[in-house]
Amino acid sequence: MLKFISSGCLLGGLLMASSVLAQDIILPPANRTGGMSLMQAITERRSHRSFSDRDLSLEDLSQILYAAFGLSASDKYTIPTSMGKGDLKVYAVRADGIYAYIPQTHTLKQIADTDVRSIFNTQDYMSTVPLILVYTGTDKENAPLHAGSAYQNVGLYAASAGLNSVVRGYFDEAALAQVLPLEPGEFIIVSQAVGYPTVDE
Ligand SMILES: Cc1cc2nc3c(=O)[nH]c(=O)nc-3n(C[C@H](O)[C@H](O)[C@H](O)COP(=O)(O)O)c2cc1C
Repeated sequence: MLKFISSGCLLGGLLMASSVLAQDIILPPANRTGGMSLMQAITERRSHRSFSDRDLSLEDLSQILYAAFGLSASDKYTIPTSMGKGDLKVYAVRADGIYAYIPQTHTLKQIADTDVRSIFNTQDYMSTVPLILVYTGTDKENAPLHAGSAYQNVGLYAASAGLNSVVRGYFDEAALAQVLPLEPGEFIIVSQAVGYPTVDE
């Protein structure tokens, strides 16, 4: 049985919430410099379909969420968004539950404490992946474009850091909609699996 964490109104309220609960993940500040050259990362980006079950370090988790939809300035995201409105939400699905990414505080707010990764097991390689990002939005025209920018940023970070990643459109969307606290008008766009390579890769 899925157990939602009770912390008042979910995402809408969470965006406003300043309180941090024990089960939330406070991400370390993202490292905004260094790494592989951009052209090399563009060249090396690939979809990978095997993952170690090793959990991601907090540092890598921080970089991934920052790349996806972090704030690079007080009112600027790491991706362009239509009219600067930032119509995108990023959820992180992990073994220890479901989290909503809050760019303003660079934290992951836990919204459920159940492992729902089996929803994504429509392809075998998903059974061990430690992180699945789920992109949602409300603007039918523009939110999917925002998701594309976000998953490309994550794919480039993964390439530069030696992580494996793959965009996933193939999953049980109805089951996922049951476990995400979708607000009226909010719809699921696509997902993306991220993890370390297996030792034999
Ligand atoms: C919107 C979208 C949905 C995708 N869905 C899946 C998927 O469900 N399963 C999968 O294994 N790969 C999926 N992919 C990855 C593509 O198969 C992959 O990008 C393509 O084969 C090209 O390979 P490359 O990414 O290594 O260049 C998806 C890619 C995109 C952009």
